Amino acid sequence: MSENSGHLWHGRFSSGPSDELMAFTASLPFDRHLWHDDITGSRAHVNGLERAGLLAADEAEAVRRALDTVHGEFASGSFDFVDSDEDIHTAIERRVTEIAGDAGAKLHTARSRNDQVATALRLWTRRNLLEVSDRVLVLVETLVSSADAAGWGDGGIYLPGYTHLQRAQPVQLAHHLAAHAWSLLRDVDRIHATIERMNISPLGAGALAGTSLPIDPSPTAKEMGFRAAFANSLDAVSDRDFVAEALFDIALLGVHLSRIGEEWVLWTTEEFGFARLDDAYSTGSSMLPQKKNADIAELARGKSGRLIGNLTGLLATLKGLPLAYNRDLQEDKEPLFDSVTQVVLALGALSGMIATAKFNQPRMQAAADDQLASATDLAEWLVRRGVPFRKAHALVGALVQQCIASGTPLVDLAAASADFGPEAAALVAPGVGVSMRTSPGGAGPTPALAQKAQLTAAISVARREQEDLRAL
Ligand code: ARG
Repeated sequence: MSENSGHLWHGRFSSGPSDELMAFTASLPFDRHLWHDDITGSRAHVNGLERAGLLAADEAEAVRRALDTVHGEFASGSFDFVDSDEDIHTAIERRVTEIAGDAGAKLHTARSRNDQVATALRLWTRRNLLEVSDRVLVLVETLVSSADAAGWGDGGIYLPGYTHLQRAQPVQLAHHLAAHAWSLLRDVDRIHATIERMNISPLGAGALAGTSLPIDPSPTAKEMGFRAAFANSLDAVSDRDFVAEALFDIALLGVHLSRIGEEWVLWTTEEFGFARLDDAYSTGSSMLPQKKNADIAELARGKSGRLIGNLTGLLATLKGLPLAYNRDLQEDKEPLFDSVTQVVLALGALSGMIATAKFNQPRMQAAADDQLASATDLAEWLVRRGVPFRKAHALVGALVQQCIASGTPLVDLAAASADFGPEAAALVAPGVGVSMRTSPGGAGPTPALAQKAQLTAAISVARREQEDLRAL
């Protein structure tokens, strides 16, 4: 049993909490990550109490100084926890009261841990989501640098594009890399929208219903960079939509990273041989001396399972919870902290892996110059001469069948055919296919420069939004 008097609610209780209760319910082991944001919230609260006349100027000053001291102790790693500290919020209030005495004992006036924890968690989420989106933008820029190096225009590296993982049509490598950049830019956009939506302060909602004391939540909200204060106290303390949204944003981002990861696993196999990883970004085998493995790419793929699990776990926790605060809500933190930590690590590792990798241009292009990859171009050549597409498709299909059955090169069959001839046969030559992808947004060099400009513009918009949100 711990000391009864050490606990915030000791007045009504004749004994202290059991060890089992503390072991099961304490959140300090994980919510200590919130120290910075709890202090930010407490500073704003003290200023609000002073404005309301609930703290005298000298009392408010004493509490602010105590909060500065506690901040220093956390920053230097010298903060001492005691057994009765149930969570980071009780620990900080206890220490502030030790330092500031009676003034410190006024810190929790017109505040409950319910609005306090919701405030600290919003501040933490806002700050850390911006860290995630910043690293997504670094990965986007890495992909664009690789695309620049591969070349967007004529003479750029090209590789087979796939559908059903079967070779389909040649595409520029820059176009392929940019496809991932676009999906990641949507992730950044989604994170920014989540931050805009969640940027409402719950502080002042109290335990669930507000307070009889004359506080004003609005200036307090502004001081913390929130767009506004809550309109409904019950919603303010029980809403965890922002955690669910953050976990969804990260889960979908993780799905995008898993798709990138899977491609690099394939590309670095002996069978594909499209890319080679730098030694610093690959691993060896403990037994097989020749091995070089793409573990970063595999874990980028593998971690997505856990990121999805964190989202579904939280949704299950939230389902059916009656208003307002319930202790179940404490379960919001570990999945959130875990998803942020894991995705930040994945983004850093993938960015480094891609920035240092080398592409095998001959190997990629030889695969893309597969003679059958020009089949659609032969059909479209007929279309330009007025042949209905369905008929053109069948004529080329028959030619392909003949090529496979006889082993005669497609170029020879096309040249000798009455339907095609030498001009059509020229489309089968190496390197021609990719240049035929001319339509807007297509995979060839002609539309590529317009896409590059769009991508550059989208990145600067995202960077600007990022700076605006950082300034909150
Ligand atoms: N550690 C708790 C949490 O994270 C703090 C709120 C506790 N509130 C309460 N009424 N027991 O949710």
